[in-house]
Amino acid sequence: MFNFSFENTTKIHFGEDKIAAISKEIPANAKVLLVYGGGSIKSNGVYDQVVEALKDHTFVEFSGIEPNPNYNTLIKALPVIKGNDIDYILAVGGGSVVDGVKFIAAAAFFEGDEPWDILSKQAPINKALPIGVVLTLPATGSESNIGSVVTKDGNKLAFMHPFVRPKFAVLDPKVTLSLSERQVSNGVVDAFVHTIEQYLTYPVNGKVQDRFAEGLLLTLIEEGEKVLQPEFNKDLEVRANIMWAATMALNGLIGTGVPQDWTTHMLGHELTAEFNIDHARTLSIVLPAVMKVCKADKHAKLVQYAERVWNITTGSDEQKIEQAIAKTEAFFVAMKVPTRLSDVDVDASKVDTLVNRLEAHGMTQLGEHQKVTLDVSREIYHLAL
Ligand code: NZQ
Ligand code: ZN
Repeated sequence: MFNFSFENTTKIHFGEDKIAAISKEIPANAKVLLVYGGGSIKSNGVYDQVVEALKDHTFVEFSGIEPNPNYNTLIKALPVIKGNDIDYILAVGGGSVVDGVKFIAAAAFFEGDEPWDILSKQAPINKALPIGVVLTLPATGSESNIGSVVTKDGNKLAFMHPFVRPKFAVLDPKVTLSLSERQVSNGVVDAFVHTIEQYLTYPVNGKVQDRFAEGLLLTLIEEGEKVLQPEFNKDLEVRANIMWAATMALNGLIGTGVPQDWTTHMLGHELTAEFNIDHARTLSIVLPAVMKVCKADKHAKLVQYAERVWNITTGSDEQKIEQAIAKTEAFFVAMKVPTRLSDVDVDASKVDTLVNRLEAHGMTQLGEHQKVTLDVSREIYHLAL
């Protein structure tokens, strides 16, 4: 395995009715900006629980962060922060709200003229406001990682910085009961692909990382298929396992000391930016094609994945790989997400646009060996048609 330094400082409060914990986590004298999205928290009781927990704090609200958070919305928070001397931000929502808050927290201290440079030029971040999270959608892992993805004028870009890692996150599986079936599926699939992007590369004898990753994949398959069945749909143990798996899939742990890929995500981001397809649904379309096109480079790990995750133990390596890819697609179908571009009405005439976007964003050498050039990406999009 590679050398590494590992740190994850986010304190997690996990379990039913844990939202009250935020009152002790946020300093008593803090001036808090409570940030949320389109209002789901108002109808499922989360807002009321947060307001109750903040009753002894001074806070103002900023809402309206949309899925795939938009820069033009986020920068409207900056005068609110300045005007109210805000010194702590509480994000209440899914990955979009948390990512949006990470950008706002860094932009509040940005010294240049154009905070978009944080994403487009990876401009340095010297300071950020502290962030707390009440997570309402298990999927991205954003609640305890250092990444954020923001969109501006059709450009969906990411930045990473340790200063924006949340100080704490509350994970109450009960608050996920109000999610639509589509959002629950999306979350399971996103977490599954996060695990795959850090696992399905080449072996470096990282036994702990591999077995943690395989445990997460097995959990997400088992609980993901269960949660869509009526008898388990409201089961809080199923919800809890999905929630914790999604956090663990992208909190840095399984990715330390091992190669990572992220091709599927980068190709997926262009699909969201161009066609507004839900993040997870871009991944379920792109991943099977990545597995097929990059089969040779991923050979050893694909065999391991077939054997340990899908229990395919007979046949040649090639047959095991074929079956594992078929099983992955069948899992996505069971999760009711698309597996082909044709499922979302994207045809071959759009591939050039997508490849041009990758080029414009510098995504010309993706993958664990930087061998996914624009030509390889084109092949992947074509195979996904
Ligand atoms: O805005 P509200 O009204 O809250 O509604 C949201 C939104 O419409 C709704 N929702 C959330 N919790 C709910 C709920 N509805 C009912 N009950 C609840 N408990 O769900 C919708 C989708 O929310 P969103 O936050 O967009 O979903 P998700 O958590 O999947 O986040 C997706 C974003 O995260 C980025 C994606 O690119 C995308 O922009 N990612 C962030 C990553 C990171 N920071 O590490 C990694 C990921 O790979 C991903 O790229
Ligand atoms: Zn993702």
